Amino acid sequence: MLLEAPVYKELLGAVEIYEVQKVIKLDSETRDIGSFTVINVPREDIYKTLEEMAIVVPMKDEKLQLLDGVLKAIPHQCPIIVVSNSKREGPNLFKQEIDLIKHFYNLTHSRMIVVHQKDPGLGKAFEETGYTAILDENGTVRDGKGEGMITGILLAKALGAKYVGFVDADNYIPGAVNEYVKDYAAGFLMSESEYTMVRLSWRHKPKVTTRGLYFRKWGRVSEITNRYMNSLFGVATNFETSIIATGNAGEHAMTLKLAEIMPFSTGYSIEPYELVYLFETFGEWGSDRHSEVYDQGIEIFQIETLNPHLHEDKGQEHVKQMILSSLGTIFHSKLATETIRKNILEELRIHGLLKEGEEPPRPLVMPPIEDVDVKKWMEVLEEESDTLLKFEV
Ligand code: GDP
Ligand code: CO
Repeated sequence: MLLEAPVYKELLGAVEIYEVQKVIKLDSETRDIGSFTVINVPREDIYKTLEEMAIVVPMKDEKLQLLDGVLKAIPHQCPIIVVSNSKREGPNLFKQEIDLIKHFYNLTHSRMIVVHQKDPGLGKAFEETGYTAILDENGTVRDGKGEGMITGILLAKALGAKYVGFVDADNYIPGAVNEYVKDYAAGFLMSESEYTMVRLSWRHKPKVTTRGLYFRKWGRVSEITNRYMNSLFGVATNFETSIIATGNAGEHAMTLKLAEIMPFSTGYSIEPYELVYLFETFGEWGSDRHSEVYDQGIEIFQIETLNPHLHEDKGQEHVKQMILSSLGTIFHSKLATETIRKNILEELRIHGLLKEGEEPPRPLVMPPIEDVDVKKWMEVLEEESDTLLKFEV
């Protein structure tokens, strides 16, 4: 793969965030391309990296055709982890997903793990390993995309993966999904630190309009989140910046070493909170608990995909909730200044999302999973679960 070499990066303590790098050629070999402004990540290296990468697909009540395309598009080397929170009655969408996944496995013999988020056995596995922050009052895992992702990360760890990447189940373009996974690998191959995150930004997000397909550069939520995320970063460094383009990047990947030490936020605030947490914690030097992280630094790559991003439209209410919870992570950050807070409140009022005197929600943060005994967690899950399915090669 050929990518623009990042000319520019911003530093905040141990955090290095690279400017957006465009994909220039999706597929390339080892041969030197003789350019300093373009990085060549050879195909062979990408495929080697994919073997160590588990792909988590969080899913809730999506169209089966979309899941089918996503499963077929993930490179064969990568184990697939599906964490579903789909309906199990009236109609039983989860059963339909299982049927589809079984059929897919019979055709491909891909390595896969599937579990339902509300499986009481999953709740028990978290309970018995002391990770109760993810549970509701009934002892089952709470609803939420973030909760599904954390479950996926633990499964990835149980599989021994070195990297974990996330791909949404509601993607209309299987070829795009195939690219995303390779973009993650390219990011890890460019990094020097074992604590690396790769976040994708879209070249275009097509919208159907009365004049036909319109290729938007920014989604509404992303534009707003990125603006405030950049302000937050700017006040921390004292230099205004526009480097952050991936505040809401659902499509992203991390080394497992990084995933293990990060606390995660609930639901849809999980992705913006990742950045807020990294800026807050590793933006200043200190703490011997993570001395290795400070030594190596945290690298954040932002890759602009060649493919457009076309996913299911979840409607206006969903967009509003995304904006509220995303700006909530920034508003409540200890790095936020009075001016940032004031501007966020104004922004939310203009959009009719907040009334006078109200504040956006404070993110509900769950501790890092590093202290969970993953062997025991998996044993309890295998013993107690009634939805866990493991498909081996
Ligand atoms: P957006 O694309 O970020 O606007 O949000 P989506 O609603 O498309 O959600 C992203 C992905 O998370 C999709 O694949 C959803 O099906 C999935 N998802 C949403 N809520 C949940 C949940 O409670 N649990 C799990 N496991 N997945 C979820
Ligand atoms: Co979506």
